[in-house]
Parts: sequence; structure tokens; C-alpha cells
Amino acid sequence: MTKITVSAPGKLMLLGEHAVVYNHPCLVTAVDQRMTATVEKTHDALFRLDAPDVHISRYVKPISEIGSGNIPKGAQFVEVAVKNVYKKYHLSEGVSIETSSEFSALFGFGSSSASTVCVVKALSELFNLRLNEKDIFDLAYATVLDIQGKGSGFDIAAAVYGGTLYFVTGGQKIEKLPIQSVPLIIGYSGLKADTVTLINKVAEKAKKYPEVIQNTYEQIDKLVELAKDALIKGDWQRVGELIDINQGYLELLGVSTQKLSSMIYAARDNGAFGAKLSGAGGGDCMIALAPKDTTNSVQKAIEQAGGTIISVKPNDQGVRIET
Ligand code: PMV
Repeated sequence: MTKITVSAPGKLMLLGEHAVVYNHPCLVTAVDQRMTATVEKTHDALFRLDAPDVHISRYVKPISEIGSGNIPKGAQFVEVAVKNVYKKYHLSEGVSIETSSEFSALFGFGSSSASTVCVVKALSELFNLRLNEKDIFDLAYATVLDIQGKGSGFDIAAAVYGGTLYFVTGGQKIEKLPIQSVPLIIGYSGLKADTVTLINKVAEKAKKYPEVIQNTYEQIDKLVELAKDALIKGDWQRVGELIDINQGYLELLGVSTQKLSSMIYAARDNGAFGAKLSGAGGGDCMIALAPKDTTNSVQKAIEQAGGTIISVKPNDQGVRIET
């Protein structure tokens, strides 16, 4: 085989963001907006990349130089992923990669993580490396840490395993939950958030008020445990209440914004079981859990608060070979 196309899902954090960076659990679901990579072996010892979604076109570098020198932002994850796989398995052949996305990189669905996972999986197939899900997770997570220095890896796990996961920092635990669907509504705030900036902001607060913030992480941990059981039982009323409490702690950590909070209150006031921001905060998306008969009114209310409804299905399949 010399050419393969693989795809991996984006993700949405349900509960537990920020605490999950510090050895606590979170709940994350894979969404049916996917990233795709077509990877081809070549004979010229060159690394080539086309990634139009992140404005990378005809990017070329000798294989011997990948991972070093100036790497444009849009090429970082794919290039470092290739470098990590090549280094570990002593590969040196040329490779040509094209990525494309069903979703905008602006939403915070984890396009960089999903493309990293696609590339690792594709190389495993092309070079017959026989990597299992955990091997792919470890290589892709190492890539994220090489670039960002921080992060729990929850987005990588969602891209690899799919479904809805109970996940602990760095993949200490990755458990797929036996659920069919989640009655989720997603509202995009129109602002792009930078994850590392927000992690640093929370870290500053933790330095200043260590006990308060540690205690907050522990409370969020408890909410995740309770929500895990409620999700499995399909007790959406209870999951909604736990989501509302989680949002209170995210306010405490200082990562919500006026816009997100307006969208969240709009959803709650119009019949949602509960609503919170999803991910690092500072922008990106909020989620609401709502009964069927209030879906329309909740969506309208979020729009009136200035949000854009993004239609996605949760619990989607993990990384897979397309052709
Ligand atoms: O910014 P997002 O949507 O990738 O979410 C970040 C969630 C954090 O817990 C803040 C960071 C992490 O890696 O878990």
C-alpha cells in the first residue's frame, strides 16, 4: 500500500475542563465533524504538506530536517507527528500529506489533535507498524506536549477512541461509556480562545490561591464522577444540574466570558436541563442539555444572546480508515 485516507472526529468537553490538566478526570464526547488526512509514500525523501484549512499550501522540507527550523503554525502538529513516528520507528522515506476538515478550526473542536491522530494512524498503516489505539494515543499526545508543553490529552483520546469517554490526565484512564446519544445543543460564541493562555491564567490563580483552586479541582472531580453515573443512566435532568454546578466552578476559575455566560443563562431560562462553557473558555463554544420539546426555544435563545448554533452529533466513531 502506498496511499491511504483516514479520518478522526472532533471533540466537545462535557465536564471537567482545567481540573483534568492536574490529574483529575473529565468527560468528553467525539463529534461527527471530522478531520481527514490523505497520506502517500513518495520516493524523493521529502516531507510535503497541503492543509488548506490552516492556510498551508505546497509546504516542502527534506525528511532529514523535519521538526527543526522554522515551522509555520498550521504545519506544526502534522510535521512533529511525522517526526515522532519516523524517529521511533527509524523511517526515512518521503511522504506527502493532505489534510481537510469538515469544521472550522475556529470552533475549538480540536482540529490540530484530530489531524495529529489521522497522521499517526495513516503512517502506522502505510509502514505496517501495527500500532494499537493506546500506541496512537501516546505518540499523538507526545506530539501535543512537544508543541504546547501543556494539555491533558483528552482531545487526542476522543479522536482515537471516539464515543463518549471518562478520561484521566495523560490517558491514565480511558473508559468508553455505554451510552447511545446525548441531547446536546452547541452554541459558538464567535470568539477564538487560546487554550494555553487560559491554562496559564488558571495556573496564575492557583499560585496565588493554592488551597482554593486545589479544592475547586477536587469539587470538579466529584461532579465528573456523579455525572458519569447520571450519563450512563440517561438521567439528563441530573446531568444538567451537575453541568450548571460545573459552570459555577469555571466562573470561579475565571475562564467564562460575558458572552458565554449570556448564552448559558439564555439556554437555562428557556428550558434547558443545564448549560456551561465547553473547553478552555475565553470564547469557543458553550453546550446546553435540553429536552426535545424545548430544543427550538433553547436554540433561539442562544442565538438571541449572540451565539451561532452548530449542529453536531455527539458520540461519533474514533479514527478510521476511509480508503
Ligand atoms: O481549548 P480546548 O477546547 O481544547 O479545551 C481545553 C481543555 C483544558 O482542560 C483547559 C486543557 C486540556 O488539555 O485538558
